[in-house]
Amino acid sequence: MMMMGQRQLLFLLSSLAASIFGGGQGQFPITQNVTALEGSATNMTCRVDFNDNTSLQWSNPAQQTLFFGDKKALRDNRIELVRASWQELTIRINDVSLADEGQYTCSLFTMPVKTTKAFLTVLGVPERPEITGFTSPALEGEVITLTCTTAGSKPAAHIRWLRNDKEVQGTTEVSASGKSFTVRSSLHFQVGRGDDGVAYTCMVDHLSLSNPYMTTEVLEVHYAPHLEITHSMIIPQEGQYFKLECVSRGNPIPEPVLWSKDGGELPDVERMIVEGRELTITTLNKTDNGTYRCEASNHLGTSSAEYILFVYDPNAIGQHGPDHALIGGVVAVVVFITLCLIIVLGRYLARHKGTYLTHEAKGSEDAPDADTAIINAEGNHVHAEEKKEYFI
Ligand SMILES: *[C@@H]1O[C@H](CO)[C@@H](O)[C@H](O)[C@H]1NC(C)=O
Ligand SMILES: *[C@@H]1O[C@H](CO)[C@@H](O)[C@H](O)[C@H]1NC(C)=O
Ligand SMILES: *[C@@H]1O[C@H](CO)[C@@H](O)[C@H](O)[C@H]1NC(C)=O
Ligand SMILES: *[C@@H]1O[C@H](CO)[C@@H](O)[C@H](O)[C@H]1NC(C)=O
Ligand SMILES: *[C@@H]1O[C@H](CO)[C@@H](O)[C@H](O)[C@H]1NC(C)=O
Repeated sequence: MMMMGQRQLLFLLSSLAASIFGGGQGQFPITQNVTALEGSATNMTCRVDFNDNTSLQWSNPAQQTLFFGDKKALRDNRIELVRASWQELTIRINDVSLADEGQYTCSLFTMPVKTTKAFLTVLGVPERPEITGFTSPALEGEVITLTCTTAGSKPAAHIRWLRNDKEVQGTTEVSASGKSFTVRSSLHFQVGRGDDGVAYTCMVDHLSLSNPYMTTEVLEVHYAPHLEITHSMIIPQEGQYFKLECVSRGNPIPEPVLWSKDGGELPDVERMIVEGRELTITTLNKTDNGTYRCEASNHLGTSSAEYILFVYDPNAIGQHGPDHALIGGVVAVVVFITLCLIIVLGRYLARHKGTYLTHEAKGSEDAPDADTAIINAEGNHVHAEEKKEYFI
């Protein structure tokens, strides 16, 4: 409490002194540094707390007087008076430009004149970024350089790249143009089919932006086709319905898909129906055996795939049971292998059981008590693990 009282008293005394000796030490102008965005308006305020009606003046970095009290001195429509009193001289600069940056001076015309400086910092707002250098569509294997450019920033803006949502590193280059900067960032890479449909985003961060500027280009990559045939069943039998599909990848989509059998046209158009990339055989016949081929191209190349059809005779499968024979064979082999394993295992265990017991006994013999015996026995865990393996 005492401390507070003393401080308040000191403050009162100094205020009193200042007002009494108004033309003396206590009379000085106060300003603040200001930061403004290019194109915006900004106020510049100069205050004098104790003033015996002495005039205030604002002048620009070129030492030109802007306002002397409430009197305009420089002919510049962008500069206007906000407030003029003995305690304050506030002016406004509209449509601030980068050239307005610099040290402004507030003068109080006492004897001698007292001045104080305020630095006006003007931030150059970057332009919306542009991405150049992408050829649409790009060809697989082609090497491209995506360049993102943003001009007009001050200080220099920061560029980041995203490949889909993941950040990737670009090469940045900053050049000064007048009072602002042009920032370029490049991504140099070989285009793969994996880049097809990938979004490359350029993000510009800057002091003057609350949210970064973003520009996105989606890459389109053309690549040669690749074909594969899938089939509707593993063991096609006579009389069944059977379908082959020619699965194609490629950009542009390779079309149309051409089907052929054993190097010639499809023999039976009634039963063999082609629909887009599918070939359907409505009722399989032994005579359908053969090599089926699908082929498709785009402007980058041609690809083909083959499927060898072997039509099984359902009667043969049903009666003599090649299925049963197969299953029987497999079961016999499995049983045989299992038996062999059991015999080998049994022999091995019989031979090694003695050795293992000796190791465990050694642990307990040397130990003064049961716990140590277990620890000692664990010391032989290598053997114990070997033992486990035999049991598996
Ligand atoms: C400048 O000051 C005036 C008066 O106090 C206020 O109305 C105006 O919003 C200020 N302008 C800026 C850009 O700060
Ligand atoms: C300051 O000016 C006001 C009128 O603007 C006047 O009333 C006052 O007496 C002046 N004060 C001094 C110390 O000159
Ligand atoms: C105002 O800006 C100038 C120039 O950038 C700097 O030297 C000075 O320290 C700043 N003053 C304050 C109070 O921030
Ligand atoms: C298979 O084709 C031959 C000759 O085209 C025909 O005689 C036979 O009936 C067909 N078999 C079946 C199961 O459709
Ligand atoms: C097709 O395969 C079957 C085996 O299921 C065979 O009996 C038949 O002779 C084959 N036909 C031709 C034309 O190759």
